Amino acid sequence: KTRLVITLVVVAFVLMLSACGTSETGGTSKTGKTNEGGGEKKTLRVVTDAAYAPFEYQDKGEVVGFDIDFVKAVAKEAGYDVKIEHVGWDPIFVEIKGKTADFAVSAITINKERKQTYDFTVPYFLSKNEILVPKGSSIKSAQDLKGKVVAVQNGTTGQEVTEKILGKNSKDLKKFENNNLAILEMKNGGADAVVADNGVVDTYVKNNPKDNFVVIEDDGAFEKEFYGLLLPKGSELKADLDKAINKVFENGTYAEIYKKWFNKEADIQILKD
Ligand code: ARG
Repeated sequence: KTRLVITLVVVAFVLMLSACGTSETGGTSKTGKTNEGGGEKKTLRVVTDAAYAPFEYQDKGEVVGFDIDFVKAVAKEAGYDVKIEHVGWDPIFVEIKGKTADFAVSAITINKERKQTYDFTVPYFLSKNEILVPKGSSIKSAQDLKGKVVAVQNGTTGQEVTEKILGKNSKDLKKFENNNLAILEMKNGGADAVVADNGVVDTYVKNNPKDNFVVIEDDGAFEKEFYGLLLPKGSELKADLDKAINKVFENGTYAEIYKKWFNKEADIQILKD
């Protein structure tokens, strides 16, 4: 009888070991192994707010977009596996601050305020805020937003630039947890405009012609912004990611991904100076 028990224990042990092995090669290991010396890659936990097409959004339950392709290319170059998880916008900052995720990708603008608490990689995308309005709107410039009801995603640079015009605690500023909800508010007649990143509002207009929305640019009022990957302050990953980003710039991968999502040629030089 004891022999049977011993056999069972041994079998169970062997099964456990092989299960560990598969999960590591399957890319869910959290044991901190790197690919140094070949073999298994470390899997990084990457968080995002997948409600910002075409940068990150959900398609049939999968997180996809320009940012996602970009991060996969960068991780591959740096020798990591990635597990990209949609957690929402505000939780991104909680996770990165608390170091429960390795980094975040979410069309995140590099700015002074965020730099005090977080680290960023080198810039990987040029962006600016633009105004989404119904066709025929009297809003023709940023200044015209004064006295209008504006919907934004809470905690974004879109909120920041709109506050500069409407005033900080304006009751005309409606803040939403994600950008799709801000757009929905305008669609339902609860707002006169949405302020968000150009890539996002342009894509919305293109994909939703029946909504009859148009985009108003105001380069005088809205400054250039650059996206970076967001890291915990002092993260050792930054050096690896920066190196890999420069590599995907140089080897043509970035241009390929850019072309796929924006059907335009990428301007890498503008990211470098
Ligand atoms: N670029 C803007 C910012 O950093 C908006 C980003 C919103 N991204 C998102 N996935 N919802 O504030």
